[in-house]
Amino acid sequence: MHRFLFVVLFALSVSVPLTAQTAPAKPSGEDVYKQRCARCHELTDSRVPPRTALNQMPSVRIMRALDFGAMMTVAYPLSRDERQAVAGYLGTSAPAINFPPSAYCSDRKATVSDKPKFSWNGWSSTPNNARYQTAQAAGLSIDQARNLKLKWAFGFDGDVTAFGPPTVIDGQVFVGSAGGVIHALRADTGCLQWTFQATGPVRSAIVAVPQGRRHALLFGDQTGFFYAVEAESGNLIWKKRIETHDAARLTGAPVVYNGNVFVPVASWEETRSLDPTYACCTFRGSIVALRVQDGQQVWKTYLVPEPKPTGKSKRGTQQYGPSGAGVWSAPTLDPKRGLMYLATGDNYSSPSTNLSDAIVALEISTGKVVWSKQVTPGDAYNSSCATDKQNCPDEDGPDYDFASSAILSQLPDGRDVLLAGQKSGMVYALDPTKQGELLWQVRIAPNGPDTPTSVGVQWGMATDGQRVYATTSSTGRTPPKDPLDARRNILDPSKGGGLTALRVADGGKVWYAPPIVCAPNAPAGCSPAQSAAVTAMPGVVFSASMDGHVRGYSSEDGKVLWDFDTVREFKTVNGVKAKGGTIDGPGAVVINGMVFINSGYSRFGGMPGNVLLAFAP
Ligand code: HEC
Repeated sequence: MHRFLFVVLFALSVSVPLTAQTAPAKPSGEDVYKQRCARCHELTDSRVPPRTALNQMPSVRIMRALDFGAMMTVAYPLSRDERQAVAGYLGTSAPAINFPPSAYCSDRKATVSDKPKFSWNGWSSTPNNARYQTAQAAGLSIDQARNLKLKWAFGFDGDVTAFGPPTVIDGQVFVGSAGGVIHALRADTGCLQWTFQATGPVRSAIVAVPQGRRHALLFGDQTGFFYAVEAESGNLIWKKRIETHDAARLTGAPVVYNGNVFVPVASWEETRSLDPTYACCTFRGSIVALRVQDGQQVWKTYLVPEPKPTGKSKRGTQQYGPSGAGVWSAPTLDPKRGLMYLATGDNYSSPSTNLSDAIVALEISTGKVVWSKQVTPGDAYNSSCATDKQNCPDEDGPDYDFASSAILSQLPDGRDVLLAGQKSGMVYALDPTKQGELLWQVRIAPNGPDTPTSVGVQWGMATDGQRVYATTSSTGRTPPKDPLDARRNILDPSKGGGLTALRVADGGKVWYAPPIVCAPNAPAGCSPAQSAAVTAMPGVVFSASMDGHVRGYSSEDGKVLWDFDTVREFKTVNGVKAKGGTIDGPGAVVINGMVFINSGYSRFGGMPGNVLLAFAP
């Protein structure tokens, strides 16, 4: 079924429980357009597509522009109903994607082995979230890693962002997209086997598990839906809205254990607060356990208590709290102790609570919180703190989420250790046997008073057991001066980035690979920041940056062994016009002699792009 129609029908057929705010009347698309779009789109300006151009676009594409495209920052304050109303009002009902028949494999059936030889299944190659691939599974020597060449490129039609981490099992690839399309591809050629259209954009890593005689692919979308789709065919097995809050996003990858799937829940309510009339905030971060078989909920644990009315904002809007503590990353499993570890984000409104900016240990079987280690108390923050402060809580930040998973690794004496990198620029080693007691902490990025621009560790580190490799984002950003510029930031081409190797044993610095600043003629949106997740294999550490380069560094001394600039147009195997841009979000996936990476990330003022690249020596 057509995606937009589907969304509308679904919205009609399900009664969505209301949040603490009063229920708004169904918005009119025309009203939303007049209030939120007309001031730019009724202008005659060559940079702004006129309304007549919007009227020729499929509604699904307009939704994408609002959800994860050029209009994302404009749409921050808009609810899903308002987005759908204006997209439906402006656009056509045509489908968004059409691949030519030549994009497809001759055999359309995807295959997943129960006992794969090699896999990168989910966020990390292993459930401890180390993002480390053994020599055998990587299938690459250091010399071969030095000589990686582009094997094929696949374009995500109509997208300006490519952020779905690929899952690769033997020769089979599954990858989501900003347009909400799951693609099943062959690893060797990039030919397409099937596609599945989700309701919202999909950036969570996909996990494949045996389901009867076949396999289920498990993943969430950016609107709160979670799916089980048959890996062999792309047919839906079940679908469930596991979080009804309007701003919910399922970004962190799910993990599977003993027949249950564990789904971390985050949100962007933080940005809704840019609207001074928004009753901030009511979202509660959580983790949900579902039965893989049928999606039935086993348990759900919220990380903040139920929000209650608090005071009024500076503008007189009712405020709610506590809120926030979203989980943006995959849980880390510790079956030996029957525990899983979550890394949590900040609170959005007062009062701040004790499970924000924390590593939280929960019982896998019940979801009960066993212990927690909060590293930044009192961190209540939302986007209005960086603008007019009308909805900003008294705490006013510092916005030091854990944006990435903790890694469960070992000290040289065999004791377990949890390694966690924070947006503050700190890397922590915590003792999981002593309720997260601090073993060491090291700052790898300076933190300044101008948060949230000083973002340290963003999407995640990697470890080979001896060293932990952590990159720094820390972009330099300024707001655009031109009122027509819909970007929220202009990126500084000389600020941010850097890769640090620390000893797991004691946090000692082994080496530092400085950032490589953008070339003088680099396109707008270039930044040396290294925000994307790091990947390691024996001898090589892969890190991509917001300049669009993906590089392989020597794990011995940090020297660059391989460098590929993705900012160019690509001839794609599926016949879609595609280019690379900023790389952010998930990092490289290394498996069976190949390296996969997405390029294109227009959020934060980065360079747009829509391509999945596959390399081999
Ligand atoms: C601040 C000015 C501004 C506002 C407000 C604005 N737009 Fe835009 N819009 C632009 C500009 C500039 C572009 C061209 C962006 C580009 O090419 O990168 C654009 C492009 C678009 C596109 C094309 C995107 C694509 O992928 O090709 C769509 C669709 C769109 N706007 C929809 C909307 C809707 C719907 C609203 C209201 C909810 C809106 N815009 C509000 C300035 C604005």
